Amino acid sequence: MKKNIVYKILEAHLVEGELKAGEPIAIKIDQTLTQDSTGTMAYLQLESLNIDKVRTKRSVAFVDHNMLQQGFENADDHKFIQTVAAKHGVLFSKPGNGICHQVFLERFSCPGDTLTGSDSHTPTAGGVGMLAMGAGGLDVAVAMAGGAYYINTPKVCKINLVGKLSPMVAAKDIILEVLRKLTVKGGVGRVFEYAGEGVKTLSVPERGTITNMGAELGATTSIFPSDERTLEFFKAQGREDEWMELKPDADAIYDEEITIELDKLAPLAAKPHSPDNVEEIASIGKIKIDQAAIGSCTNSSYEDLMKVAKILKGKKVHPDVSLVIAPGSRQVMEMLARNGALADIISSGARILENSCGPCIGMGQAPGTDGISLRTFNRNFYGRSGTLSAQVYLVSPETAAVSAINGVLTDPREFKEDITVELPEKFLIDDSMILKPQVDGEEVEVVRGPNIKPFPINKELTDSIDGKTLIKVEDNITTDHIMPSNSKLLPFRSNIPYLSKFCFNTVDEEFPDNAEKYNGGFIVAGSNYGQGSSREHAALAPLYLGVKGVIAKSFARIHKANLINNGIVPMVFENEESYNSIDKFDELVIDNVLQGLETGILEVKNVTKNTSFKVKVEVTEREIKILKAGGRLNFAKNS
Ligand code: F3S
Repeated sequence: MKKNIVYKILEAHLVEGELKAGEPIAIKIDQTLTQDSTGTMAYLQLESLNIDKVRTKRSVAFVDHNMLQQGFENADDHKFIQTVAAKHGVLFSKPGNGICHQVFLERFSCPGDTLTGSDSHTPTAGGVGMLAMGAGGLDVAVAMAGGAYYINTPKVCKINLVGKLSPMVAAKDIILEVLRKLTVKGGVGRVFEYAGEGVKTLSVPERGTITNMGAELGATTSIFPSDERTLEFFKAQGREDEWMELKPDADAIYDEEITIELDKLAPLAAKPHSPDNVEEIASIGKIKIDQAAIGSCTNSSYEDLMKVAKILKGKKVHPDVSLVIAPGSRQVMEMLARNGALADIISSGARILENSCGPCIGMGQAPGTDGISLRTFNRNFYGRSGTLSAQVYLVSPETAAVSAINGVLTDPREFKEDITVELPEKFLIDDSMILKPQVDGEEVEVVRGPNIKPFPINKELTDSIDGKTLIKVEDNITTDHIMPSNSKLLPFRSNIPYLSKFCFNTVDEEFPDNAEKYNGGFIVAGSNYGQGSSREHAALAPLYLGVKGVIAKSFARIHKANLINNGIVPMVFENEESYNSIDKFDELVIDNVLQGLETGILEVKNVTKNTSFKVKVEVTEREIKILKAGGRLNFAKNS
């Protein structure tokens, strides 16, 4: 008794450790997902673990991030993923079938299961009561090979939803409100468990929007109960046999609790350039817009796009606005096509894109110079749209559609027509674009194009590490800052030597050259270093360039795990003031590293300044072994 949902799932999957907030635990993973941007690397890593078939209940490989085929690279990578999946027992969702999180929610999510995905928005599946966590590709590869997933037992924060949303106020506004309250650092070490009477007013896709953007809080994950509304969704997807009820005990205990009064929420926008820079649309005012983009894994469900179609029906997109719409899956697109809603959307002057991530990751539809873009996506980091001078606002589909008609940012409550959308009794079910793996994988030949290059593997950690401060960066550096993933670079996701030439190039374009010139060294950073995506390229490229350690005020969870997995030592200033004592190119020396890892304290000598300061290495016993071995692959091979 007294158990919340998170602890119920953790307890059922616990392999090692004690469920006590902050304590390291290992859990069994039921399902995994990968997407193409991180998947090539994850499957290369899976191959190096030498297993014939994945040992999960279900593993799915998606292709959704980059479908622009301007050269051979993407097509070759897709073929590699398809064949390696067929060989090793992984389902393959073909390009065009949809965005991983939307398709996963529709076709594979299961209440009570655990999921790791090599994408930071994997928590979307928490919308059905799944414990779904973003992880680095190597952690996902290890889970596919049957290994446990290691996390620190999270604190569980109850988000008590009270009341009901007013018309034209959306699920997106709920999560924007949580971001406004808690900021992009507010979820670190936490799982957000949604509860309260307001839960049953939200459909599964609405819940998925909320759990999806829990990633922007830096949370381990977010989760909803699995209830009658969840059952309705599973019935409509023809999967009621995979549903089970999941709710907290009546006297469940939580570490923290906050309340959101749904009736009091107004339409919100996250202003440039952070998802927590949130303000009411009414107070931002009617700024002129150049683009509206609807879609992404946050807001691309059938329900979202039916509402958009109802708003656009019989109207025209403003002459100065480009409205682009990317449905989240083929299921969504085909249903809109069959019921006529797609015709309403096209007739309004909107542009229809493929069922993929597309503009969310800068793959096409970059705004013009200084362009103002309203996006229903989850991130508005500087430069992510592909245009450095663009101003991106994150909004609900309702706000994006109404504003696209008016040409200015508009409070959607000005639109007075009813756009209620009921859950369809049956979704259109056609899994023919999900390819089953070969029964006898031995027969399958894995196809490797010339773009598939070996990835760097670290060496055993030495007792003394030294080098220059190659770069010094501020707070909230994202994985996009570290390793940009724009349309020109994404095709090289399996080619680390090439990618590393662009490491940090929007922050300090001399970084890769300096790393080479000085034979590696250190990165010095502010707080929340590595926030954003799970992309382990943000650790692999620095590793390739010889980075030995990162000294920061604090780290984002997944990136810290990726550094450890690659044998790069993550260090936290004992006294944050020490950050100010280091300049770029200062020579740093750390002795007695191996013993210091055990005590958790290292002394860093700044040879250039003739000073020293202490840093903490906040890692578990197991992570110490991984660091000493020079990364998780070496550790796995040796143990
Ligand atoms: Fe794709 Fe953007 Fe989501 S890149 S997985 S739609 S965050």
